Amino acid sequence: MITIAVTGARGRMGSLIIENITRAPDMKLVAAFDIMDVGTHCAENVVISHADRIDAILKSTHPDVLIDFTIADAAVRNIRSAVRNNVNLVVGTTGLDPYQDEITEIIADNVSAVIAPNFSIGVNLFWKLLAEAALYIGDWDIEIVEAHHRHKKDAPSGTAVHAARVMRNVLGEKEMVYGRQGICQRGGEIGIHAIRGGDIVGDHLVLFAGDGERIEIKHQAHSRQAFAGGAVRAARWVMDAPKGLYGMDEVLGF
Ligand SMILES: NC(=O)c1ccc[n+]([C@@H]2O[C@H](COP(=O)([O-])OP(=O)(O)OC[C@H]3O[C@@H](n4cnc5c(N)ncnc54)[C@H](O)[C@@H]3O)[C@@H](O)[C@H]2O)c1
Repeated sequence: MITIAVTGARGRMGSLIIENITRAPDMKLVAAFDIMDVGTHCAENVVISHADRIDAILKSTHPDVLIDFTIADAAVRNIRSAVRNNVNLVVGTTGLDPYQDEITEIIADNVSAVIAPNFSIGVNLFWKLLAEAALYIGDWDIEIVEAHHRHKKDAPSGTAVHAARVMRNVLGEKEMVYGRQGICQRGGEIGIHAIRGGDIVGDHLVLFAGDGERIEIKHQAHSRQAFAGGAVRAARWVMDAPKGLYGMDEVLGF
């Protein structure tokens, strides 16, 4: 039985992941943390603990894996706590770019960790297609447009930032332009645009525009299950992985 703790247990992702764990015959939820609804049940026999108590509770429950979908600064604190307590990690929280070096140093070869800005299988394939397209038509104008629900806190999305990174790995350093207003001559940049509204789960479109034609590569998530299923799959995978830091490429065998 794989034992799991979840941080962000009351969130949109955290609560869906808990539902997935509860249904999985090979998994058991042993701890859950949030800063809201502390003391309420999130599964049979599991009550939400305040995030401040994470160290003590990880020590007493000793889960195999901590799954974190919170906010960036909380995720860094939770990663530290997991490493102190020898707990493997699956982290889906986005906005971690400014903390990348710190996180790499904390994890080193202390635990096994999968950190991914997007756990959906489709998005991971989408990134592969972008790298391929950039190889052949990277000199066309490239624009990334992403759309998410009105509650999303960070912009642009981690998935859009990673899409840009994947193409820059092929094309070399390129300027990034975030939205445009007023007089703004297009150069060789990659443009990124973030739309926020309603309950959009997550759309990403990359437009390659040439003379007289264009190609659009698009991914649309219909439900958060696309991410939750991937995170649970990563939790199974990380159990047997040698210590170190991994992405979804390794989990999916791409
Ligand atoms: N990697 C992926 O596939 C993927 C998919 C969807 C969302 N995300 C990211 O996951 C994160 C959460 O998304 P969401 O839509 O569930 O957000 P949400 O706001 O619904 O949930 C976040 C939860 O974290 C809790 N929280 C805040 N600080 C905490 C702390 N210190 N310890 C424990 N819990 C804490 C909040 O109270 C809230 O319940 C965001 O960064 C989002 O961008 C990633």
